[in-house]
Amino acid sequence: MAIILGSGLSEFAENLSNRTIIPYDRIPHYPKLTVPGHVGELVFGYLNQTPVLVARGRFHYYEGYSLETVALPVRLLARVGVKALVITNAAGCVRRDWQVGDLMLITGHLDYTFIDNADDPQIISGEPYHSDELAAIAREAASTEGITLREGVYSWSLGPTFETPAEIRDIRRLGGAAVGMSTVPEIRAAADEGLQVLGLSCLTNYAAGILDQPLNHEEVLETGQRVKHTFARLLMAIIVKIEA
Ligand code: HPA
Repeated sequence: MAIILGSGLSEFAENLSNRTIIPYDRIPHYPKLTVPGHVGELVFGYLNQTPVLVARGRFHYYEGYSLETVALPVRLLARVGVKALVITNAAGCVRRDWQVGDLMLITGHLDYTFIDNADDPQIISGEPYHSDELAAIAREAASTEGITLREGVYSWSLGPTFETPAEIRDIRRLGGAAVGMSTVPEIRAAADEGLQVLGLSCLTNYAAGILDQPLNHEEVLETGQRVKHTFARLLMAIIVKIEA
């Protein structure tokens, strides 16, 4: 199995034992990282006895990459034999009744990028979310660990700017619970590859306009730091149950 770690969440890789580290710049034709908070290495190692590949750092469409390039790591993971993929991200929280630092199981998505992707071969019909089996495992793991696990729709916006308060009001009306700039192209590719997928968001900040203060990327990274132990506990409990 494999895990893609989102902004501010990459320290999770340090929980792996017997690590082999492969820097992205050693992988032929691999894209270059440009976003702070993303380390840029693939780590192979073990959690308990389970072999796990962890991607520390991902690529975003807003960095100027094609959708195909953004999804390249997922294609690679599928080619080396990964069957189950946990995709994580940092996301803004659209719901006022949830707390910053909450973790959310992604149950569906909105594509709020308005990218013209009619010709994209990765677009498959239907809703690729999510493996019911992995979702059940995630709920069980959260309950065993005593961790609140929210569930909701992830709204993908283009970035790199945060959304406007008016956009967030619209996204809330459309049923979005979290907003972020990644994950959806990866989930599409994972579904296309026949991988079992689980999407997890770390709600690092209230989305624009919810609080009377501007957003910043530091806040995103700070919350990632604050909840990293809870996040790691949940991920490890999930991985143990996937393997069982
Ligand atoms: N909006 C979009 N992406 C994000 C946010 C946000 O508020 N927080 C972390 N990633």
